[in-house]
Amino acid sequence: MKRTILITGGAGFIGSHVVRLFVTKYPDYRIVNLDKLTYAGNLANLRDIEERPNYTFVRGDICDLEAMRELFRRYDIDGVIHLAAESHVDRSIKDPFTFARTNVLGTLSLLQAAREHWNGDWEGKRFYHISTDEVYGALEMDGGFFTETTRYDPHSPYSASKASSDHFVRAFHDTYGLPVVVTNCSNNYGPYQFPEKLIPLFINNIRHRKPLPVYGKGENVRDWLYVEDHARAIDLIFHKGKTAETYNIGGFNEWRNIDLVRVIVRTVDRLLGNPEGTSEKLITFVTDRAGHDLRYAIDSSKLKNELGWEPSLQFEEGIEKTVRWYLDNQPWMDSITSGEYEDYYRKMYEFL
Ligand code: NAD
Ligand code: TYD
Repeated sequence: MKRTILITGGAGFIGSHVVRLFVTKYPDYRIVNLDKLTYAGNLANLRDIEERPNYTFVRGDICDLEAMRELFRRYDIDGVIHLAAESHVDRSIKDPFTFARTNVLGTLSLLQAAREHWNGDWEGKRFYHISTDEVYGALEMDGGFFTETTRYDPHSPYSASKASSDHFVRAFHDTYGLPVVVTNCSNNYGPYQFPEKLIPLFINNIRHRKPLPVYGKGENVRDWLYVEDHARAIDLIFHKGKTAETYNIGGFNEWRNIDLVRVIVRTVDRLLGNPEGTSEKLITFVTDRAGHDLRYAIDSSKLKNELGWEPSLQFEEGIEKTVRWYLDNQPWMDSITSGEYEDYYRKMYEFL
């Protein structure tokens, strides 16, 4: 094997796309997927590649420092792509402690295990931390874009925990010399996203004729990127990004929530053969999210200018593909909404 790469959170939404890309594109890399299998981890996301000889799954908790030390020893890891996290803002409002534990202390355990294992020999090593644009706070409607030098100003417990983890990653470079790279990406969408997030939740609710709860007036703006374009950016930055640099990743694709919801409604109705307008009446305005950031918008020109990355999919094409995928993969969604998926995989794997 040429390299052994640890991908954390590989059973989640973005992680599963990154694992799939690396396992198929780099047959001479050993890919170790470390995931705790929380409610958000689902190994069904990886069924198509789980038998590949260069793929290994390990169930473990990034907060467990001893287990992380053992993981680095056992597999002699030389690269880390760290995605494992608690990722949903609404959950962070209800339970901020779990977010601090996993996102901050979990990241710290991984950093420490990497530092100890590499022990000053940084040649060929890399610790790549995946973060979010939410650490930059919120923009006004006409407030420009987040760049890599925008001051951190997180508002939700989720973004505060991610901001803290980003600082720890950079501190491990500045203090110990750990070869790190950090990226901050905008909202992702695509197959295998857990149906607590806006797009899969609403597609599934339309299918079941359930209300579509739009927070506030639906005027908040998010910048959407197709998940496979994010995975391609991660591949490029893992291999070509400069140590200690930060890169913003986004598709210059801003949507007001209500406009996005109308696109989803129209697309689902069309693909299900419903008369136009059938599901519009499911749209329901509900109490706003506490501390709801008004607008996120990423300037990813550094990544384009320095490494040549651009999103490959137009939004119309991406949303069509995404809606089609959820409608064609109803058993995947149903096993989540019934809770069946949790027991199935958890029983198969002991913790490291
Ligand atoms: P997700 O919630 O779908 O998946 C997270 C994964 O991490 C799950 O498989 C879960 O089991 C695992 N995990 C959670 N706690 C763990 C622990 N203690 N130990 C080991 N594994 C654990 O999340 P996602 O949407 O795929 O996001 C992945 C990463 O990308 C996160 O770091 C997130 O902050 C970041 N990010 C997400 C988005 C987005 O739009 N989803 C955008 C930018 C950045
Ligand atoms: P979400 O998918 O939770 O991502 P994030 O909070 O990380 O941006 O939400 C996307 C946007 O949609 C956000 O502005 C909140 C809003 N939203 C709703 O209006 N209703 C919902 O049920 C959900 C889950 C989100």
